[in-house]
Amino acid sequence: MHTPSHTSRRNVLKLLAASTAGPLILPRRLFGADAPSNKITLGCIGVGWQGGSNLDSFLGQDACRVVAICDVDENHLKEAVNKVNGRYKDPDCKGYKDYRELLARKDIDAVCICTPDHWHSIPAIAAANAGKDIFCEKPLSHTLNEGIAMVEAVQKNKRIWQTGSWQRSQATFRWAAELVQNGYLGKVTRVEVGLPAGHSDFEGTGKDKPNGPAPAGVDYEFWTGPAQMMPFNPCRFHKNWRWNYNTGGGQLMDWIGHHCDIAHWGLANPKFGCGPDDAVGPLELSATAEFPNKEDVWNTATKYRIEAKYPNDIEVVIAGGYGEIQGGAKWIGPNGWVRVDRGRLEASNMQWIRDIQDREKKGDLEIALYKSPGHHKEFLDSIKSRQRTLTPVEIAHRSQTPGHLGYIASVVGRKLKWDAVKQEIIGDEEASKLLSKKMRAPWQL
Ligand SMILES: NC(=O)c1ccc[n+]([C@@H]2O[C@H](COP(=O)([O-])OP(=O)(O)OC[C@H]3O[C@@H](n4cnc5c(N)ncnc54)[C@H](O)[C@@H]3O)[C@@H](O)[C@H]2O)c1
Repeated sequence: MHTPSHTSRRNVLKLLAASTAGPLILPRRLFGADAPSNKITLGCIGVGWQGGSNLDSFLGQDACRVVAICDVDENHLKEAVNKVNGRYKDPDCKGYKDYRELLARKDIDAVCICTPDHWHSIPAIAAANAGKDIFCEKPLSHTLNEGIAMVEAVQKNKRIWQTGSWQRSQATFRWAAELVQNGYLGKVTRVEVGLPAGHSDFEGTGKDKPNGPAPAGVDYEFWTGPAQMMPFNPCRFHKNWRWNYNTGGGQLMDWIGHHCDIAHWGLANPKFGCGPDDAVGPLELSATAEFPNKEDVWNTATKYRIEAKYPNDIEVVIAGGYGEIQGGAKWIGPNGWVRVDRGRLEASNMQWIRDIQDREKKGDLEIALYKSPGHHKEFLDSIKSRQRTLTPVEIAHRSQTPGHLGYIASVVGRKLKWDAVKQEIIGDEEASKLLSKKMRAPWQL
């Protein structure tokens, strides 16, 4: 991958000053991939929990310069702008409440989108149409059809895309996928993807607070955006919006872009799985789930199980709340099994793990997966090289597909047949309607 040369802003100014025998002509852009600084200019949209963490990672990268922040919560916005300006020791980073103003800036090369799930597709498509490269959080989209539209927009505009599915940048997940893709298990027959159940109270609000006014500095109308307008309730606001289907998809969709993404990575070699991984997906699936009352503030499924059939006779189970389906991704074949989760890589034959590491080092693996230099750096490297990232939009979309379909199957209560090429549910009008949601005016894709 191409490594950009790094020149600090101060050095650029010095160089410019030194080279001016005549009048000082400043380049149109001081920063940006084409500017003398060779730094990629970045705007961050949504700087809450994960957005703050992604911002920290980008601030630690010499190859980019954060020049703009956008958030509809003035408190988050101010904190992030101050952090950026404090880090660079100048007042150049600008704050915006409306992402469209940020996207209108021609001097911004790329954006990082970390808004709640109901607010991914619209800014991401607008960013692609505005010619920006995009880092966007998982799960790719709030509905499956939004994901299709995002893929089209990114492809049409030839944008570089990285998804926040950072597990692909970690060695343990790579070794697990390499074991499977290199045939240690033989042809995979079954995959188990274990995700969390219930709800996690990330904000410490609980789920029983009354409706009330939105906090000062929050534009709740904008925050709600394309979702349905509901009275403000602190329990379904920052972070905990995941537990209401109006804005999120519960534990299933919160995690599908991590462990199902890894499960698909292992299956990406058609010889032992059913790849490539931007096409991996189910042929049919059925699902059950336990839902709280629709009117509850936290109304997403607390327990769920999806049973899918993938090409090449592979059974895939995705479940939350079933003890026998352990967390992470587990592939099973005639020769044994491999399981990977955060902080854990194990196999029926532990020698395989030492073996894959040795062979990777020696460079004698038939399928050696790309060794990421870190998820954020990999995105920046790809912007320079114009090579696909580890988690391009097509892969993120296929990784989330069984989650969206599983949710739909659990709502309609019957098996769904999926045409993975046309991306349509076959012969089920009621289920097909759930592939998209009506957006609240004036917002639309
Ligand atoms: N990759 C990971 O490991 C990981 C971890 C946590 C969250 N996430 C993902 O990150 C995204 C954000 O989740 P979070 O937990 O940080 O949520 P959060 O509620 O903490 O933060 C969201 C931020 O977006 C802002 N926002 C909402 N609408 C906006 C708009 N239209 N324009 C600009 N800003 C807007 C909110 O005010 C808030 O500051 C989600 O998609 C989530 O799934 C990924």
